Amino acid sequence: MRHFISLNDWTKREIMELLQLAEHYREQAFILSEQLFAANLFFEPSTRTKMSFIVAQRKLGLDVLDFNEEFSSTKKGESLYDTAKTFEAIGANMLVIRHRDDCWIEKLEGNLSIPIINAGAGKKEHPTQCLLDLLTIYQEFQKFKGINVVIAGDISHSRVAKSNAYTLQKMGAHVYLTAAEGCKDRSLPFPYISMDEAVEIADTLMLLRIQHERHEVAYDQTTSYLDKYGLTKQREKCMQPQAIILHPAPINRNVEIDTDLVECNRSRIFKQMNNGVYARMAIMSSVLKEWGSIHETVDQKYQ
Ligand code: CP
Repeated sequence: MRHFISLNDWTKREIMELLQLAEHYREQAFILSEQLFAANLFFEPSTRTKMSFIVAQRKLGLDVLDFNEEFSSTKKGESLYDTAKTFEAIGANMLVIRHRDDCWIEKLEGNLSIPIINAGAGKKEHPTQCLLDLLTIYQEFQKFKGINVVIAGDISHSRVAKSNAYTLQKMGAHVYLTAAEGCKDRSLPFPYISMDEAVEIADTLMLLRIQHERHEVAYDQTTSYLDKYGLTKQREKCMQPQAIILHPAPINRNVEIDTDLVECNRSRIFKQMNNGVYARMAIMSSVLKEWGSIHETVDQKYQ
């Protein structure tokens, strides 16, 4: 059995297979003929990830078990472990989990007989976001090797930054970071550059929002943040002709990006969201396929 916890566990070849499968899903419909249940256990707010998982599950023909923390027995003190075991016991075939704890996975791995998909682990990893980002970059450049990717913003509190930096490096991209002093994570093995340098070298500029909910002290996010560290209209003019702008969203308009650039020609922000459906279809069918429960016709085209 295989989980989808971190892209560190997937080889370059396997990641390319996931991307091909996502493209396959974008091109044609596929529906399972047997009944399988997917449970979405979100312990942190989500719009894109949760809703695109639901769309992806329905496109695959999975039955969706929704979960609302506010009205669940976690309010009576039930743990994540007992919640997950309960969903397994009542017949869920797969768990999609987002939790504020960086290390929630360690409490579950090895204790369940169904696959787990990591839909966000604290500030540590967000591998499904990473796969949809890779898909968006690959659609643009048809390669990763040699591409300059700059990840800009609240690096220290961002799970998107960590999943992307390590996976893009594995795929052959050159990865750089740019951040305000209070948002840097010096333990990461990637060079920091200024935002002015970033716009000049980036093929892909990946912007991040300030993760207020993870800061211990309220971060001073005045309008000068955009001028000092964000993507202003002036800086956008200095970008390479082929360069694209990504953002996992939600966006803080006029903080990390000028609002007029959110839908500019370089922006792939809403394309990322669309790709999220197909990337998540690829991930779910791959972990279910490993488990032997999905029709083998899924990726015939790529065999
Ligand atoms: N990008 C992302 O994870 O968005 P949500 O928090 O809305 O799921």
